[in-house]
Amino acid sequence: MKIHECVLAEEVVGADSAERGLWEAIIVSGDIKERLRNQALLSLTVRPVVSFAVTALHGLCTLYGPPGTGKTTLARGLAAQIAAYVAGGKVRRIEIDPHGLMSPEHGVSQQRVSELLTEYVPALASDGIPTVVVLDEVESMAVARSAASLAANPADVHRATDAVLTALDFNADRYPHLFFVATSNFTTALDEAFLSRSDAAIFVPLPQATALREILASTLLSLAGTYPGLRALAEAPGLDGLAQAAMGLDGRRTRKVVFEALAQRLDTVLDPSVLTEQDLSAAIRNAVSGTDGDTTHVEAANAAH
Ligand SMILES: Nc1ncnc2c1ncn2[C@@H]1O[C@H](COP(=O)(O)OP(=O)(O)OP(=O)(O)O)[C@@H](O)[C@H]1O
Ligand SMILES: [Mg+2]
Repeated sequence: MKIHECVLAEEVVGADSAERGLWEAIIVSGDIKERLRNQALLSLTVRPVVSFAVTALHGLCTLYGPPGTGKTTLARGLAAQIAAYVAGGKVRRIEIDPHGLMSPEHGVSQQRVSELLTEYVPALASDGIPTVVVLDEVESMAVARSAASLAANPADVHRATDAVLTALDFNADRYPHLFFVATSNFTTALDEAFLSRSDAAIFVPLPQATALREILASTLLSLAGTYPGLRALAEAPGLDGLAQAAMGLDGRRTRKVVFEALAQRLDTVLDPSVLTEQDLSAAIRNAVSGTDGDTTHVEAANAAH
């Protein structure tokens, strides 16, 4: 894969971008969105005027947590969220597929990582517009070096990881208008040195019952635009119990479960407006039993952060 093919998206967005809807559709607990937005803004405003020697800010934030919790969507939507606050009202978003950088050939991954991060990306952003660079599923680049020692070609993985770290150091004071957001499902395997370069590492947990309720309701309400009969279900008090029953599902699965409920009966396929609480309840039970059905790990994982 060529370097430029590893760049999945490159666009300049304003505060009115359609991406805002995506960010708003992610329902996360507490202050996660605020922390991400503030960290990006602080970095993009302070680093250009205060030296790296003082700030030690690398312009990197890592979002980590279980699959399907909204990390990629938040990372993608960040540029539009901060556009309103930066001079000029425009922010560039560059999205990178780190998987494409890896190569089985000796030394090639390292070279590509370095070229992409220290040359290609800065060149795309050479007009100085504040730029958010999304490194989605960064573990493919920054796996812990200790874990990689078991892999087939450990020396190359080590060198690629080192190349990421060197690139972050290289870029930190040269390109203060770049802000990197990395996402990862791994929490234990991410390189310590990578995490230590993160100005913030934000844990994105599985949704709790209140968030699950909101995700179910918002999915039903969006559908109610087309199938008005679903509005009553979206507002039904029974949704509280359904949300409790859905504990352990991630955000992506919770949205899908509404469609799984619709797919259970031909009647609801032909006319989604006739979906009932019982349909939803059955689909949720199914989905939860397809996970391990045990929510204690959710509480434990969430409590640990
Ligand atoms: N917290 C949430 N609230 C509402 N919807 C969510 C949430 N998390 C995920 N979703 C839904 O799932 C979709 C996929 O989420 P996204 O890809 O951002 O998750 P992710 O954390 O990056 O997952 P992965 O770790 O598997 O890459 C979103 O577009 C959204 O529809
Ligand atoms: Mg993702």
